[in-house]
Amino acid sequence: MKRIGVLTSGGDSPGMNAAIRAVVRKAIFHGLEVYGISYGYAGLINGEIKKMELGSVGDIIHRGGTVLYTARCEEFKTLEGQKKGIEQLKKFGIEGLVVIGGDGSYRGAQKLSEHGFPTIGVPGTIDNDIPGTDFTIGFDTALNTVIDAIDKIRDTATSHERTYVIEVMGRHAGDLALWSGLADGAETIIVPEADYEMSDIIARLKRGQERGKKHSIIIVAEGVGSGFDFGNRIKEEINLETRVTVLGHIQRGGSPSGFDRVLASRLGAKAVDLLLEGKAGVTVGIEKNELVYHDIDEALARKHSIDMEMYKLSQQLSI
Ligand code: F6P
Repeated sequence: MKRIGVLTSGGDSPGMNAAIRAVVRKAIFHGLEVYGISYGYAGLINGEIKKMELGSVGDIIHRGGTVLYTARCEEFKTLEGQKKGIEQLKKFGIEGLVVIGGDGSYRGAQKLSEHGFPTIGVPGTIDNDIPGTDFTIGFDTALNTVIDAIDKIRDTATSHERTYVIEVMGRHAGDLALWSGLADGAETIIVPEADYEMSDIIARLKRGQERGKKHSIIIVAEGVGSGFDFGNRIKEEINLETRVTVLGHIQRGGSPSGFDRVLASRLGAKAVDLLLEGKAGVTVGIEKNELVYHDIDEALARKHSIDMEMYKLSQQLSI
């Protein structure tokens, strides 16, 4: 293998730049040429492909977003789109591809592998919802962004003696909600992976009220529904002054944390090693601090889950 490509796809996440840098530098270290594909699979179809040098990835390790830009691409879900992509890869003499992104990006990588094009997936998403890795690139930074926001909201919640419902991202996964809720001592955490009863949430708020608690933080993962709906239901059922905050895309930006920079560097470099070893159709990950790889079909077939012990702990600590 002499020439590889790299792209970022789907929602951006802090640390993607560090992963691009690792792919480019590790590949050049091994004497390969690297081509950067802009705008994910959309750019691949359109041939937005440029050679990258050592300097192309200078001064980006600390920057959020992705210097390769990103996109969600419907066309690449079609056979025709995939064929166009492969034609472009061949045109540029690219023999292997590293795809950095979430599960939608992995599905594209899976298709390329099925068509016989060596592709490796690197997990980049704030949602932490990719099976086959304990952590995805960007989750830790997003978690800290959420914690910072909740700390600020807590100040005003205390001053005004209010209940705050805070909606956090995560698509169908509750990791951001669970981890930030535990880190911030939220009274209630509502995630898609665990059943909940509105009556229990209200009962918990009432118990707090009875023992003189003046403010509460309730974290709602976007996967269970709108924070505003929860806020309204609380207002209807219990006389508490309630406000709702939807944190939104602030969770996707910012300079990556040390953890994410290191994770991205390790996973990006590992992807290049695997291509050089002749591996294809696999995803890289970290499990118990060991770099691992899994067959992409197997990874995508697994169901995402949260750590239920952690969920139970959050409930025990917020009685
Ligand atoms: O997958 C990352 C993510 O930020 C999810 O948490 C969220 O549901 C989604 O992307 C938002 O997508 P968009 O940026 O297209 O609105």
